[in-house]
Amino acid sequence: MSTDLAYQSSISPDHSSTYGLDEVLTACPETGELLDIQYDWDRVEVPSSLKEFESRWANRNCPLDYSGVWRFRQLLPFAPDDQIVTIGEGQTLLQQSNSVAKYVGLNEGQLYLQYEGLNPSGSFKDNGMTAASTHARMVGAKMAACASTGNTSASLAIYAGTTKHFKVIVFVGSGKIAYGKLSQALDYGATTLQIQGDFDDALKQVREVCKTAGIYLCNSVNPFRLEGQKTIMYRVLEGLNWEVPDWIVVPGGNLGNSSAFGKAFMELKELGLIDRVPRLAVINAQGANTLYELHEKHGLCWNGGKPDSELIKSFYQKMDDEDRRANTLASAIEINRPVNLKKCLRALDFCDGVVREVNDEEILDGKSQVGAGGFGCEPASGASVAGAKLLRQQGIIAPSDRVVCILTGHQLKDPNATVNYHSGQPAPEFQNAPIPVENDFEKIMEVIQRIA
Ligand code: F0G
Repeated sequence: MSTDLAYQSSISPDHSSTYGLDEVLTACPETGELLDIQYDWDRVEVPSSLKEFESRWANRNCPLDYSGVWRFRQLLPFAPDDQIVTIGEGQTLLQQSNSVAKYVGLNEGQLYLQYEGLNPSGSFKDNGMTAASTHARMVGAKMAACASTGNTSASLAIYAGTTKHFKVIVFVGSGKIAYGKLSQALDYGATTLQIQGDFDDALKQVREVCKTAGIYLCNSVNPFRLEGQKTIMYRVLEGLNWEVPDWIVVPGGNLGNSSAFGKAFMELKELGLIDRVPRLAVINAQGANTLYELHEKHGLCWNGGKPDSELIKSFYQKMDDEDRRANTLASAIEINRPVNLKKCLRALDFCDGVVREVNDEEILDGKSQVGAGGFGCEPASGASVAGAKLLRQQGIIAPSDRVVCILTGHQLKDPNATVNYHSGQPAPEFQNAPIPVENDFEKIMEVIQRIA
C-alpha cells in the first residue's frame, strides 16, 4: 500500500492497488479500468468550512490564489505549488437568469447559469487542462496530445502556447469541429492533425500514438484533468453562498465533467464540508445518446462498482455492426463512445442522477434563450437548458427547485450554428433574422419606422 498523500487507483472498489503520481497512466495497469486521484485526507490540511476559501480573494496577486482552480488547491492536493501551471483560469461566474427560468418553467430566482465559457480558451476545459498541464510538468513531459471536438484542443494548445512547457499535437475529426475552435488551435501554434473520421476515431488513434510514442495524453481519461474540473462545482457553491442547489444540469459528451462533479461532491460530503448532495442531470444530444440509451433504456448503473461490462460491450458491438455514428449540430458532444462512462455511472449513483436526451432543435432553442437573456453559449451548452426544461415538463424538477445549468462553452466558439439558426428556413421559434435593406436612407428609415 502506498503511503503517498496523493496517489492513483482504479475506480473499481474491489481493487486496492495504488500507483504513484510519477506514473503516466490512463487506465489501471492491472484491471484496465479508469483511474482516480485519491488522497489521504487525514494528512491534508483542509479548511473546516468552505467559507474559508473566500479569504483567498484578498490575495489576488498570487497566481495560485487568483486561479479559480488553484485557490481550492487543498481539495486537489497533488502538486507542489512551484510546479503548478496556471494561466488565470476559472474566473467564471454564476448568473441568475429570470428569463431562462421562465423558459424552463421555474419560479423566479431559481435558475442559475454557470458561465464556463469565460475561461481563457473559452470553455470549461481550462479547469482540467491546468491540472493535466501541471502533472505533465511534474513528470517532465516534452510533448502532449489530445483528440478533440474542438475545445480540449483549444485548451491544450493555449496552455502549451503560453507556458512553453511542452509541444502539442491535437487530433480532430475532419469537418467535425466548429471553426472558432479550429482557429484557436492553429493560432496558439498546436500541430493540428485532421483525421478522416470523427471524434471516436480520433481518440482511438491518439491513444495508440501516445502509448507507442510516449506522448502525454490530455483527454479526460487522464485522471488529473478531472481533478481540475471538480472546481467548477466549488465555484457554483461559492456563487450560491455555499448553499447546495437542488440540481446541477450538464451536457454529456465524453462524460468527464459529470464524472468530476460526482467526485467533487463525494469528497465534499466525506470531508463534512457539505451536508447534502445536489441531484445531477446529464443531458445527451439525441444523435449522440449512448449514456441515455444505456442508463435510462437498458438500466446500466454503477452497481456498487460492478457495472455490467457485457451490456456495454454488446451495445458498442451493435453500434459498430450498424455503423452508427454520432450526429448532432452540437458538435462538442458528438461522441458515441464516452470514455468516462463508468465514472459517470458512479456520479449518477452518488447524486441520484438522471439522464435525458434532447434533439438539435431543442438544443438550439435553449441556446437562443441563453443568448437572449444572458451572455450566450455554444450549442452543446444549450443542451443543459433544454434538458432542464424537459425535466420540468416531466415533473422531475419542481418549479421551486434551485437549478444550476452549466454553460460549458462560449457563444463565439461556433458562430455558424448561431447565424444559421437566426437566418435559416423554416424559421425556428426564437429566430432573430438579419433584415436585408438597400443602401438607401429612406429605405433604412422605413424599416426603422416599422419596428419602432
Ligand atoms: N460542452 C462542451 C462545450 C464541450 O466541448 C464538451 C466536450 C462537452 C460539453 C462535454 O463534456 O466530455 O465532459 O461530457 N468536449 C470535448 C472536446 C469532447 O474534445 O472538446 P464531457
